[in-house]
Amino acid sequence: MNSFQLHNPTKLVFGKGTVDQLGELVKPYGTRILFVYGGGSIKRSGLYDQVLAQLNGIGATVFELPGIEPNPRLTTVNKGIDICRRERVEFILAVGGGSVIDAAKAIAAGVPYDGDVWDFCVKKAVIQEALPLGTVLTLAATGSEMNGNAVISDWDRKLKRGMGGKPIYPKFSILDPELTFTVPRDQTVNGIVDMMSHVFEQYFSKTTDTPLQERFAESILQTIIENGEIALEDGSNYAARANLMLCGTYALNGTLPIGVETDWATHAIEHEVSAIYDIAHGAGLAIIFPNWMKYVYKERVDRFVQYAVRVWNIDPAGKSDEEVALAGIEATRAYFTRIGAPATLGQLGIGDEHLDRMAEEAVRYGPLGSFKKLEKDDVKAILELSL
Ligand code: NZQ
Ligand code: ZN
Repeated sequence: MNSFQLHNPTKLVFGKGTVDQLGELVKPYGTRILFVYGGGSIKRSGLYDQVLAQLNGIGATVFELPGIEPNPRLTTVNKGIDICRRERVEFILAVGGGSVIDAAKAIAAGVPYDGDVWDFCVKKAVIQEALPLGTVLTLAATGSEMNGNAVISDWDRKLKRGMGGKPIYPKFSILDPELTFTVPRDQTVNGIVDMMSHVFEQYFSKTTDTPLQERFAESILQTIIENGEIALEDGSNYAARANLMLCGTYALNGTLPIGVETDWATHAIEHEVSAIYDIAHGAGLAIIFPNWMKYVYKERVDRFVQYAVRVWNIDPAGKSDEEVALAGIEATRAYFTRIGAPATLGQLGIGDEHLDRMAEEAVRYGPLGSFKKLEKDDVKAILELSL
């Protein structure tokens, strides 16, 4: 096990009716609020009115930034930065899924920065300070509600990049599983795949002697697998939605990578695909992850055997290690297919026209991953397997 530090400053407020605490949670941070949300789901569900009632209840002056796109755009982030500067906003409230939260984080980092906020995405600058922000999560997927990452798309240059830093951890996040009852089937599927993928990135590791971290990861995966299917059958099943929500948060809140070398190659590859084709992040991951697994499993067959046996209950009797490892990978693909996730880029209408560019951009800052270091040709090979 490697040495590590762990400090997650986000306060989680979890459970039914917790939006009622929003006003009190916002109050310490000021009264000039930027309220950031997406394309209208919160208006349809009634959450928008609830949020405004809470903010009015503390006498807040509210500025709104609606219309955050899935795969949020740099141009929209810049709009938010302008509003914050012009209106002397003190606190940013994100109400939505990962895209809304990520946009809010990028705005928060951009306001005090004397330069282009994109600098944080291309490693030209480090986030030193940010406006405080809080979130009300409506979709279980990214873990953005309890981490310091944000992923932004520059649509003009067809680039999608992440930024990260302590100053953009949310001060609080409200997680009411009932708010996810209205998430449509395809977005529920995308969320399931995304959270499983976050676990994979931290579980398929070369680090040894980490039994607790491995069992944390395996527990999260099994909980997602079981509850994902229930939530897809009955979107209003509170227990299933609650368990999925908690898994989404814990898959990417800093619990799993303690003392462990993590990978993140598949995420980097997927971001190149979404940057060009604007596909849902979870859909891209469903296509690419099993192919990454096939490409790299020989680096550490024992970990893939453990995954197959413990997560998918594959019976190893009479099989070689390699057969067990491959059966675990097949079980992953079969689960994704069973819940309705795509298996090939072709299913999304994507061909081989930009493979070179995607592979080249993916390794712009050096080889990807740590489980197996991937160069441009490796990335291209994984994309070819995904066609
Ligand atoms: O925009 P609205 O109208 O709100 O609709 C959204 C959107 O169309 C809808 N939705 C959200 N909550 C809903 C709902 N519809 C009905 N009922 C609800 N309760 O779902 C659609 C997708 O929302 P989005 O926020 O884009 O989804 P997700 O949470 O999966 O976020 C994806 C983004 O997060 C990034 C991805 O790359 C992508 O840009 N990621 C962020 C990470 C992070 N910050 O740590 C890590 C991830 O790996 C990921 O890269
Ligand atoms: Zn992800």
